[in-house]
Amino acid sequence: MQSFTLAPVPEIVFGSGRIAELASRATLLAGRNAPVALIADPALDGLGITARALAILAAAGHATCLYDGLRGEPKASDIDRAAALAREHKAGAVVGLGGGSALDTAKLVASCAVSGKPVEAYQLCQAPLPADHLPIIAVPTTAGTGAEVTRTCIFSNSRHEKVWAWGDELKPEAAILDPDLTLAVPRSVTAATGLDALVHAIEASTNRNRHDASDLYCHRGVALIAGNLERAVKAPGDVEARGAMLLGSCYAGIGIDNCGTALAHNISHAIANLAAIPHGRATGLAMLATIDWVAEGNPQAFTKVAAAMGGNDAAAVYGRLDRASGIKISLHGDGLDLKRPDLLAEQMALPVNSSMRNATVRTPTDADLIMLAERVYALVDA
Ligand SMILES: [Fe+2]
Repeated sequence: MQSFTLAPVPEIVFGSGRIAELASRATLLAGRNAPVALIADPALDGLGITARALAILAAAGHATCLYDGLRGEPKASDIDRAAALAREHKAGAVVGLGGGSALDTAKLVASCAVSGKPVEAYQLCQAPLPADHLPIIAVPTTAGTGAEVTRTCIFSNSRHEKVWAWGDELKPEAAILDPDLTLAVPRSVTAATGLDALVHAIEASTNRNRHDASDLYCHRGVALIAGNLERAVKAPGDVEARGAMLLGSCYAGIGIDNCGTALAHNISHAIANLAAIPHGRATGLAMLATIDWVAEGNPQAFTKVAAAMGGNDAAAVYGRLDRASGIKISLHGDGLDLKRPDLLAEQMALPVNSSMRNATVRTPTDADLIMLAERVYALVDA
């Protein structure tokens, strides 16, 4: 019998138009009329989504301060600036509105605004996070990283190193999943983030840490994403498909919060050290290149994943989905030296990536890492 713990799942508010409930959640968590800090992706300004969130909070009597200075993935300087703003305005709660970057920033601001410490104090669990952190409401606008339900944050420190922070204190108290907010996401982002979420659900339900309770979320997440990814890419305004993707990525997030990832994320993190390629695309193609090799380590778990995708062979169904998403598969022209898979293998072997490597059901030897890197570099568009 396997022994396991299912970590608490935040309150999940799901449905079209449910952004309106940001007000009641903010009042409940911050207190009546308490100021609220909003951390928003700058791209949402032009869509009117940021203004809408601010108006909802203001109508409920909450003074607001807005930080939307993020550019790309979160940097320590951005997080520190946003935390100083929240502290200055005596915010009683932090709302993250956007993709993984905005949500991770908000999650860290909730601790830094209280402690007054720079975010780097918390990198790699160097200092304990404050127990009296501000409550966090996460409103994802992509589907997605699943950051609305996880205890992990990724940011770049002042030495431009990609680092993580982890702790119960970083998990949002509430997640509002409103598919209306995702309708304007461009096709390439829908495809890349959707594949990332699919890989989260596959890896969390097939790696060495997988457990029965997490599988409930992962298998449903796989089914929702596999059944709707192509539809959401081809018909961006299809709110049903968008809702399924948003819920699927949230379920996948619960999976990785409990069980983590595996080899495809080891590879995509290694690629990130060599070239600027969107995380979702890199993760998706890493899975494409290696799924049949990994599946040999736990055929039973991969058969369940295949069934959730509506097929018998996980590698075949995944391959079809990845290619149908329209994402560029080949790494030609992406700034990598494709004649040097050894350099990718070297990055895969770094200690910082070892947890993903060790969680993989088939532990790759150093020789395997070269072979797997060669597979990734040999991918071609059909
Ligand atoms: Fe990921």
